[in-house]
Amino acid sequence: MSADTIEHNRNRFDFSGVDSIWLFGYGSLIYKVDFPFLEKRPATIHGWQRRFWQASHDHRGTPEAPGRVVTLIAEPGATCMGMAYRVSPKVFEHLDVREKNGYLRFTTTMTFDNGSHAEGLVYIATESNDAFLGHAPDADIARQIKFAAGPSGPNAEYLLRLAESLRALGDDCPHTFAIESHLRSVTESDT
Ligand code: SIN
Repeated sequence: MSADTIEHNRNRFDFSGVDSIWLFGYGSLIYKVDFPFLEKRPATIHGWQRRFWQASHDHRGTPEAPGRVVTLIAEPGATCMGMAYRVSPKVFEHLDVREKNGYLRFTTTMTFDNGSHAEGLVYIATESNDAFLGHAPDADIARQIKFAAGPSGPNAEYLLRLAESLRALGDDCPHTFAIESHLRSVTESDT
């Protein structure tokens, strides 16, 4: 599948008759909230883990030197914390452009802090998209992130702000924190 998912997403979900819908964010959607929302609540989804396995050619890297950003990988028993936003369906016109580099909207069940549940949407870049990179050692991912930057800024900022937001949410994401720790020890001579 081509990495540009705008058209795929437009045809994926029928919003007719829907006034508002929950969106679950687990990456930059936690800390870069450039869209209006009606309500915001920390939430968890089950059966998914956050991984820096997706290339960013348009935000935190370039086609020549892609950055690495997060996607979700199915893993039985895993949980992923994030932020849920109740939004108007109109918001997806903006978000589908923002998340166009390989992310498709999927429906998911999210669990709020008080144990209640809601159905909503989540952007996932599956391994069938052209920008999917997959597993690499944490130190290699950190090195790639350290030296990548794109129109939205340095890739390192994406990682550091995500790690900070996850701590604020009380999430323990060993994958993100391990890459963050490697990033701090990467030096210019590692290019
Ligand atoms: C998300 O944050 O939910 C999707 C991935 C990203 O935009 O970083």
